[in-house]
Amino acid sequence: MAPAASGEHRRGASRSLRPRRGVLVLAVLTLLAATATVAGAQLSSEDYYDASCPAALLTIRSAVATAVLIDRRMGASLLRLHFHDCFGCDASVLLDDTASFTGEKGAGPNAGSLRGFDVIDNIKMLLELMCPQTVSCADILAVAARDSVAQLGGPSWTVPLGRRDATTASASLANSDLPGPTSNLNGLLNSFSNKGFTTTDMVALSGAHTVGRAQCRNCRARIYNDTDIDASFAASLRGSCPAQGGDGALEPLDESSPDDFDNTYFGNLVAWRGLLHSDQALFSGGGGGGGATDGLVRAYASSADRWGSDFAAAMVKMASISPLTGTNGEIRVNCRRVN
Ligand code: HEM
Repeated sequence: MAPAASGEHRRGASRSLRPRRGVLVLAVLTLLAATATVAGAQLSSEDYYDASCPAALLTIRSAVATAVLIDRRMGASLLRLHFHDCFGCDASVLLDDTASFTGEKGAGPNAGSLRGFDVIDNIKMLLELMCPQTVSCADILAVAARDSVAQLGGPSWTVPLGRRDATTASASLANSDLPGPTSNLNGLLNSFSNKGFTTTDMVALSGAHTVGRAQCRNCRARIYNDTDIDASFAASLRGSCPAQGGDGALEPLDESSPDDFDNTYFGNLVAWRGLLHSDQALFSGGGGGGGATDGLVRAYASSADRWGSDFAAAMVKMASISPLTGTNGEIRVNCRRVN
């Protein structure tokens, strides 16, 4: 009896242990799965391609340097291309329309305006020759944007890598999520906070308009109707951007140094010489708009270093918005098409 009882007891004990062990195993498995999910959703460090495609970053940097040497505005265009991809950094912006989806190239903020697709195609072609289906188009965009800024004399930063490419694109998301040039301060703050950005991030990122051009159609209403605009600035712009016609005429976003990545954009805002209505919305100086970001604009206007480091930090944040990682998405062979 006693042994049986003890055997029973042992069996009982082992029975009572079994579920506990099961629970433990289950807990460990759940933990592992959770860790894998988190790791899968996160980007890796900048040495991501060191083993699989050692010359990847150098190739992108040289191609960007060449493109900017040929056409300095291209630095601005590549930066903007990354931004327009990055309300979800998955290279969806590069996809051409197909029978099954209407892509982002034809969306309002992008059509007839985004540039740099050929530069990305060339980089991708080189990388496919060197290391087939290894470097994603989304990572190329992120690195090319960083290298463009550096090439134009701006700050540099480390780009976390490991993004994969989307297999679809959405024109309607591009239309709804990207801010427009007639936005006021609240509209801008909303668009950016919807993506997890702070007010500081938004103002710092807007400083990207220290380079590049905008078309007359995007600044006409400001230069003819706005009151928070320097009179001589408006008058000179009216010379090249007529009230009717000339929609595509190009105006520098930063009149003082249109191709240099410096902080003069913020000084322009303080002088009411911002080109877009949405630019000037960051600084009212007692005029229209909210005025909530006036202090930050003044601070950036007087410290290029402070702006540079806030801009770099916000770019890293932007480049990490909902990337595809792990086994999600794919590494496209041609950035314009899904495989
Ligand atoms: C704050 C909200 C923003 C609005 C409303 C806005 C709007 C615009 C518009 C309307 C243009 C001119 C497009 C054209 O006329 O063809 C433009 C150009 C540009 N944007 Fe923005 N943008 C914003 C934020 C950003 C951010 C966050 C970046 C990058 C981090 C950026 C980078 C650029 C660059 C570099 C250009 C010049 C591109 C070129 O010359 O090809 N923008 N933007």
